[in-house]
Amino acid sequence: MSNCKCHEKDVFMPIECEIVHVEQVTDTEKYYTLLPSDPSVMEFEPGQILEVSLFGYGEIPIGYASSPTRKKTFDIVVRSVGRVSTAINNLKQGDSLFVRGPLGTGFPLDDLRDNNILIVAGGIGLCPTRSLIKYILDRRNEFKKFSLFFGARSPSEQLFLQDLAHWRRSNDVDYFETVDKADASWQGNVGVITTLFDQAQIDPDTKVIVCGPPVMYKFVIQKLLDIGVTEDSIYLDLERRMKCGIGKCGHCQINDRYTCVDGAVFSFSEIKHLGEAFDDEPWRSLHALISPL
Ligand SMILES: Cc1cc2nc3c(=O)[nH]c(=O)nc-3n(C[C@H](O)[C@H](O)[C@H](O)COP(=O)(O)OP(=O)(O)OC[C@H]3O[C@@H](n4cnc5c(N)ncnc54)[C@H](O)[C@@H]3O)c2cc1C
Ligand code: FES
Repeated sequence: MSNCKCHEKDVFMPIECEIVHVEQVTDTEKYYTLLPSDPSVMEFEPGQILEVSLFGYGEIPIGYASSPTRKKTFDIVVRSVGRVSTAINNLKQGDSLFVRGPLGTGFPLDDLRDNNILIVAGGIGLCPTRSLIKYILDRRNEFKKFSLFFGARSPSEQLFLQDLAHWRRSNDVDYFETVDKADASWQGNVGVITTLFDQAQIDPDTKVIVCGPPVMYKFVIQKLLDIGVTEDSIYLDLERRMKCGIGKCGHCQINDRYTCVDGAVFSFSEIKHLGEAFDDEPWRSLHALISPL
């Protein structure tokens, strides 16, 4: 069930959050730990998002990257791509950001509990899925076998290095990783993320979360269907251009769906027939990729 509180409070009022920690994690990404001035910001579920704003620049959708099992602060990662994200990434510890949220539906925790879980995360897709990974590890007895695939373009683009080191050693998660292109330091698997299916034993009776660049989805979905995972056990976390985040402006609308309130997490069976209004890049490419399936 959604944890969205957007009908219970002033959804247009940004809430101030203090930057208590900031770290440059790759050439383009910064990692923030934020302390909200209003505790309602902490009432989120993994997979939900925030509209993050900076006065004078604008507002952008960003996913929670920490688990709600951590109570006072939350994490986000911001990649510098344009006006707002670059301005945010010029902030320093002690400065403030403003947020509206939590927004959207998040991952279907009720469906995931008591099941085998596989998370397939590509690139910056590790940010929203990190929230779920940490949640599962904090409540490990509520889930069966837990497998995690992570793919990055190169070792220098891997996020959350401390977490990766921990997951490699952990007995609580079967962790598999790959890079598209190795460097001299890399000892691990080289190849696209689907090559990890050759190394792991994935039971057909597994709930799967997929989050990454649109090009990844077709190939991962095809592998999962080949293994025998059912369409309604595959969940896709999709990015769509968002503005209001609360189902008012229509920017994210597809047919009768608003990605911001009906998603951004959808089951594959739910979205595979959406044939109209693929007028935005991520959706157009996803549709082009999945329609031959
Ligand atoms: C549900 C959701 C969750 C997201 N989570 C994160 C996150 O955790 N961390 C993060 O760094 N980013 C995340 N994004 C993407 C982020 O919102 C965009 O990078 C941001 O809106 C760009 O704004 P800007 O003003 O910096 O860039 P702009 O000046 O608006 O654009 C710069 C470039 O980025 C591209 N761009 C703009 N918006 C998007 C978008 N929504 N998706 C893809 N490309 C875009 C533009 O086409 C352009 O090429 C998320 C987006 C969505 C919809
Ligand atoms: S972002 Fe405005 S309706 Fe979804």
